[in-house]
Amino acid sequence: KQTPTALLMIFGATGDLAKRKLFPSIYRLFKKGKISNFAVVGVARRSLTNEEFQQNVKDSVLTFAKESENIDEFISHFYYHSHDVANSTSYKELKEIAENLDHQYELDGNRVFYLAMAPEFFGTIAEHIKSEGLTETKGYKRLVIEKPFGHSFDSAQELNDQLRTAFSEDEIYRIDHYLGKEMVQNIEVIRFANAIFEPLWNSRYISNIQVTSSEVLGVEERGRYYETSGALRDMVQNHMLQMVALLAMEPPIRLNTEEIRSEKVRALRSLRWMKKDEVNQYFVRGQYGKGTIQGQEVPAYREEAMVDPESNTETFVAGKLMIDNFRWAGVPFYIRTGKRMDTKSTKIVVQFKDIPMNLYYKSEEHLNPNLLVIHIQPEEGITLMLNAKKTGTSMKTTTVKLDFANKSVDTMNTPEAYEKLLYDSMRGDATNFTHWDEVALSWKFVDNISEVWEKETDPTFPNYASGTTGPDCADELLAKDGNFWWPVD
Ligand code: BG6
Repeated sequence: KQTPTALLMIFGATGDLAKRKLFPSIYRLFKKGKISNFAVVGVARRSLTNEEFQQNVKDSVLTFAKESENIDEFISHFYYHSHDVANSTSYKELKEIAENLDHQYELDGNRVFYLAMAPEFFGTIAEHIKSEGLTETKGYKRLVIEKPFGHSFDSAQELNDQLRTAFSEDEIYRIDHYLGKEMVQNIEVIRFANAIFEPLWNSRYISNIQVTSSEVLGVEERGRYYETSGALRDMVQNHMLQMVALLAMEPPIRLNTEEIRSEKVRALRSLRWMKKDEVNQYFVRGQYGKGTIQGQEVPAYREEAMVDPESNTETFVAGKLMIDNFRWAGVPFYIRTGKRMDTKSTKIVVQFKDIPMNLYYKSEEHLNPNLLVIHIQPEEGITLMLNAKKTGTSMKTTTVKLDFANKSVDTMNTPEAYEKLLYDSMRGDATNFTHWDEVALSWKFVDNISEVWEKETDPTFPNYASGTTGPDCADELLAKDGNFWWPVD
């Protein structure tokens, strides 16, 4: 089987993402034999020799992939270029390196430019890549770009226009690492490959869908970025809305990139638009105070490094999304995400409607609804909650759990996600990357909320203690509809 061939140029090669995710992922692809003809040029400001850079790559693999088989051969594919993003000469040098490596490794002129660095440079880099001729190559050229893709619709559009001067839409691979997660990719299979789900996947049988992504970590060293972002831009605009789109979209006519993306876009276009004075009925926010997590005391958000002591940045968001189309009319999609919560967990709960009549009311107060739980992380799998007879002489009911667990490769599947996404970008499969239309719609939706929140100067933060499930307003949001967040594990 032919393996994809490419020269990978990683901008931001001395950064955290490269160290934690990219190098270990490239190593895994190499070890599995999925790539063999490749070379990597690390690009960053710092001055390093090739040998020093190779040593960094080695350390990263040993630390994060915890493996070392053929490591010396692996790192021999890595080169380094000390780069000034605003200096044309620097790109000319890079071009020369690229041409030499292309020749040396027989890479057919295929180039992947991976931008894993501060977003303010994305536009400049793309423009220089073009003006200094790095995109003139006989093979393919692709741009892989990390989030944040803009800060609002306007800034995202400006960035997109800059990128489009050098790359066409189908050459731009916008990373949303959630789309690389095994169980996020599984949503589609669960829905479209099972006769017991697809017929029920609509407003006639589903009461509501709940998507939760909770984190234990706080903002760590990212205070500066997070202050300008908050949970709404950091998590909702991308990961949460992407999961909703996958859950809500119509079956694509074919499983190809174009069809899947166009169905996702249609789902996003169906999101109910909130008037400004309705935003707070649909969305609530929170910020963590101090508290105890796993026996350890942690500080409040406002005490974190690089955070304004009076910051009104939200570290938690819960919302109710309505999808106004035939399939979903009247079915709330609840989402919530927050930092410094009690557990690290991402999961989706599909709550089915109650059956028309409860025959077991004499023995049980109420019958639990059927739930389908999709565990995204750290466990990977699905659980189906059914009602069955309690063993014994009475006709009492009990809830039973049908469990399917993926053998988890890793407790956290993020490195795995990067491995798949990197491989896809080299093979030219853009299905699990976000199209500009998705980005644009998500930003417009999120901008509408942030415009309201930015005007409210006193959201009475902090409103949840670290180590809890978030602020009360998130529970109230569901209680208004007679629902509650399912505490399933
Ligand atoms: C990133 C956010 O996109 O996703 C982070 O910027 C967040 O703030 C992370 O911690 C969560 O990813 P995961 O894979 O750990 O759920």
